[in-house]
Amino acid sequence: MTHGKRHRARNALTASLALLAMGSVAACGAADPAEEPGERPLVGVAMPTTTSERWIGDGENVQDQLQALGYDVALEYAENDVPTQVAQLEQMIADGADALVIGSIDGVALKGVLAEAAAADIPVIAYDRLIRESPDVDYYATFDNARVGVQQATQLLQGLGVLDAAGEPTGQTGPFNVELFAGSPDDNNATVFYSGAMQVLQPYLDSGVLTVPSGETDFATIAIQAWDPKNATTRMNALLPLYAGQRLDGVLSPYDGISLAIIEATKTIGYGTAQPLPVVTGQDAELASAQSIAAGEQYGTVYKDTRQLAEVAVSMVRALLDGAEPETNDITSYDNGVKVVPSYLLTPQVVTGQNYRQVLVAGGYYTAEELG
Ligand code: BGC
Repeated sequence: MTHGKRHRARNALTASLALLAMGSVAACGAADPAEEPGERPLVGVAMPTTTSERWIGDGENVQDQLQALGYDVALEYAENDVPTQVAQLEQMIADGADALVIGSIDGVALKGVLAEAAAADIPVIAYDRLIRESPDVDYYATFDNARVGVQQATQLLQGLGVLDAAGEPTGQTGPFNVELFAGSPDDNNATVFYSGAMQVLQPYLDSGVLTVPSGETDFATIAIQAWDPKNATTRMNALLPLYAGQRLDGVLSPYDGISLAIIEATKTIGYGTAQPLPVVTGQDAELASAQSIAAGEQYGTVYKDTRQLAEVAVSMVRALLDGAEPETNDITSYDNGVKVVPSYLLTPQVVTGQNYRQVLVAGGYYTAEELG
């Protein structure tokens, strides 16, 4: 029952955060827990999918922290289906939600429903993913997404030995054969991760330290629709014939589910047995990838603590419901096409075989037993 354990570990921390937050409840005017249901503020939380573990953690953490403040919560998952997410948001508005926290599926598809929210004076917080082309997004809680891309690319170069642990060039010139994967084209984050990564990789592609045997480097060609591991398997399988006579040294992968699909595909042609696995990056520190890193298969990931992100979003909700201004730390980076959305960016963290115990286990995200 590894699942249960992880949630217990998370809930324990969530509870202590919530207690801390409760210390200032009176001063900040959060809901009175004695209020009858229906009198308490209602917060709608719309999350994209339960097919990836991180979003389950996000939804639970946001819900637990909001409930600890005495709010009612409507938490919904849309299983990556845009009309479902729109319908869920419409229902939340009809139910009298006082604020919406939205992890969107398609960044440009929510304009209409957000206009309905604005007409009903419901503040909207974009959660993790920027909602684009709408004036009705009030705040954005996320990680520094450009930095995620930089970290992924740096990790790839470190795994190949081109950069050392401090990020300095080792003088190793390869050439190394790599393939590049990007996230879903409808998710604004995917392009931000890609540009961050390419900023680091481009000089090495230009100088020939890295070569991409497929020749596929532009975003549209390497993007994986819906971040779906099945789509990554299809693309990787299509690339494998290129590696009949040469080695695949590394793969830039934008997300753990995709990373594991890539690793499995390379195993079918002898990687991991006849020759070492390629260096494969990732994102989210999902359990299966953390286990793969601990077992020496996936090279690394970028860890984004969903407990912290939930805390940021929840404190934004609380400020808005108290008539106060949410704290932000970036008011320039996230132009959604209509406005620059005031944001709070958290710092993502690189995790590899060298530091996963320290970061993920000592940090209480997973237990040592879960990681094997
Ligand atoms: C998130 C990533 C996640 C990806 C796939 C992105 O929007 O920022 O953390 O890996 O979606 O779920």
